[in-house]
Order: sequence, then C-alpha cells, then structure tokens
Amino acid sequence: MKTIVILALLPFVSLSALADKFEGLALSPPMGWNSWNTFGCDIDEGLIKTIADKMVASGMRDAGYQYVNIDDCWHGERDENGFIQPDKTRFPSGIKALADYVHNKGLKLGIYSDAGDKTCGGRPGSNGHEYQDAIQYARWGIDYLKYDWCNTENLSAPGAYRTMRDALAAAGRPVVLSICEWGDNKPWLWGKEMGHLWRTTGDIINCWDCEVDHGSWSSWGILRILDMQQGLRQYAGPDHWNDPDMMEVGNGMSEHEDRAHFSIWAMLAAPLIAGNDLRSMSKSTQKILTHSEVIAVNQDALGVQAFKYKTQNDVEIWFKPLQDKQWAMMILNRGDKKAGVSFDWRNENVVDPDFPGNGQFYTAGFANSRYKIFDLWANKSAGTTKSSLRVSVEPHAVKLYRLEKITSEIH
Ligand code: GLA
Repeated sequence: MKTIVILALLPFVSLSALADKFEGLALSPPMGWNSWNTFGCDIDEGLIKTIADKMVASGMRDAGYQYVNIDDCWHGERDENGFIQPDKTRFPSGIKALADYVHNKGLKLGIYSDAGDKTCGGRPGSNGHEYQDAIQYARWGIDYLKYDWCNTENLSAPGAYRTMRDALAAAGRPVVLSICEWGDNKPWLWGKEMGHLWRTTGDIINCWDCEVDHGSWSSWGILRILDMQQGLRQYAGPDHWNDPDMMEVGNGMSEHEDRAHFSIWAMLAAPLIAGNDLRSMSKSTQKILTHSEVIAVNQDALGVQAFKYKTQNDVEIWFKPLQDKQWAMMILNRGDKKAGVSFDWRNENVVDPDFPGNGQFYTAGFANSRYKIFDLWANKSAGTTKSSLRVSVEPHAVKLYRLEKITSEIH
C-alpha cells in the first residue's frame, strides 16, 4: 500500500521540481567578470581564455570572483536542427572547449542570450528555441546565463523568463539565471521565482553622475544608478538580488570614484561583475577589486542591502546590517568639494526600515552599545563609537567602515 502511494506521488514531485529555478546558486551576490563594458562585440575565445588566466593571476579568483561571462555577439547560426552554434571564426574551438578551459582554472563560464528573436547586438535570440538553447548550454557546461530583453515587443516578461527558467530546469544543469530587462516590468516583484538576480536599470556607463542619451534609451552614471535603487531593497536577499549592472571600476573614472563605485555596490549587496580589461588593469584597480574587507561587506551572509540613513547637503550616510550584529557604514560625498562630516553616535537612532520585517528590525542601538570602528579603505581601526566621528571626505569619494559591537554597556 505504502509503495503504491509513493509511486502515485512521484510524477507530481518531479513535475514541480521541473518548474523551480535552481535554488541556492547565489546565496551571496554573484561575483565574476563580463565582456560587455570593455569589449562589446569584439570578443573571441583567446580573449576569454586570457581573462580566465588573469582572474587567477590577479588574485580575483581567490578573492571570490567565480564567473567568466561572455556577453552578446558570441553567436553564429543555428544548425539544421535548430541548435545554436558559436561564431566559427571567433570561437573556432567551440564553447565546450572554452568551458573546459575555464573550469580547469577553478572558474565558471557564463553566456548570454535574449528572450526576443534577436539579441541587442542583432544575433539569434532564444524566442521559440528556449529548450534547445538550454540543452545546448548544458552540453557545453555553462554555469550562468544572462538573458536580455531586446526585440521582445509582444512578450510578457514574467512569462518569457519563466519559460527560460523551466527550459534550464529541464536541461538539468544548474545555471544561475540573470534577468536583464532593465527594470522595465518591475522584475523585483516576480524575479525571485524565475532567477537569481535582475537588472533594476538601463545600462551603466563609466561616469560619476551623467546620463548619455542614445535616442530610445540612455546609459547612466554611478550616482544615477544609485538613485534608481530607491524603494527596492526590500525585494532582495539571498538567491534573489537587485542588479544595478556590471561594474565600471578600472574603466576611466578617478581612483576615488572607482572606490566609491565599488563601495556602493558592496553596500547594495549588488552582484560584483567586473567589466574592465583584466589584461591591462592597474595595481590600484586590482587592489580595489580584490579588497577582501569590502568584498566581505558585499558577501555578508545576512544578505541585506544598505539603506540611506541621512542626507546632509552633498553627503549621504548609509548603513548595512551585517551578520553577528555588525554594521557597515558608508559616508558618500557626491559633491565636487571636500566635505567635513561629524556623526555623534549617541544621538543617532539607526534602525533598519524594512528588515527583517517582523517587528524586530535591525537596530544599532548606539546609545546603549559601543562598537569598534574599522576604516576599510585605510585598512586600520578608527577608534570606537564612544566619541563622535569627525572626518573629511574627498569629493566623489567615500569613507567605508565596519562596526563591530564590543559591549552592551551604557556609554
Ligand atoms: C543590453 C544589456 C547590456 C548588454 C547589451 C549587449 O544593452 O543591458 O548589458 O548585454 O545589451 O548587446
């Protein structure tokens, strides 16, 4: 009798498993590199292999970067059975050989497609071929799929991303699904079921605070993207992240701006996908990208995005709850002049406005608890919260701190 019941349930169990995304692949924000921001369509297997080599040699792999992601324009044609093939001139050895190479380095390989008939770069999209594409990616050994949203006029976004999720599940190889529809259809409301991260904005560009108008769309500087994250933190958490786009660290901004950009991404618990040319990166860029304490803020197991606590003229103060009752704090100077900031801990009631949401919101309690302060970019301790913090912050720069609780006595 028991056997009959179990057998009768089996089909339902496997059917429901088929419809889920692969759980647990992105419990902390994914870290890696992507070809688009620097190389656009000018990519080939030699470049991707060299980047994988550099991820190891630069210490990025050991700092936590895992994914080597090929963006748009790797595609050739579909074969006579409809299976997608890579561009034969640029990827003559095929994607499977590339995946083997990348896996042998202890890294993972990501690829790119689009829910429409064509990708943004005009290559074949997955519309109507989702299951075949997922099978092909699984055969090749792909670990991460960025799925774009060009040429999708008559499609429903949740529907299209659900189809690709189900196709990946059916193909059976665990793949991180990166939803890239630029926030147009509020993916924070449905993306958690379909994928592991979702773009919240249009494309990033390497400037501090600008909009570059391309006619029907714009690309956005760091501060513009930061401001567009307002109201979204409540939707993100382990295995389902807001994605403010791939990074522009090392792509031409000043060192202060790059550090600020990386700190903002760390505070937002954003995916850390580098977008620079690792073959020629400067020591300073390498130091920023591999700063273990800043990465730890981003990867913290609590998985809670920072909130803006206070604004004073050009200065914003952000807090991010961390595990073990620690906090990260960022003082961001958006302006063009140096800013003096003083923060009197005892008079600041820092309480998370959204998490965890059951009446027990994360509370710093600076009036009753003392914390040790670590200045992360300076790599040194900076006293305690016993006395007010007084700092000056350079233009277009941040101060980033980790606060570690030492006692719960009253000051
Ligand atoms: C869109 C995406 C970018 C990039 C390009 C490729 O613009 O948002 O990140 O993938 O397409 O064509």
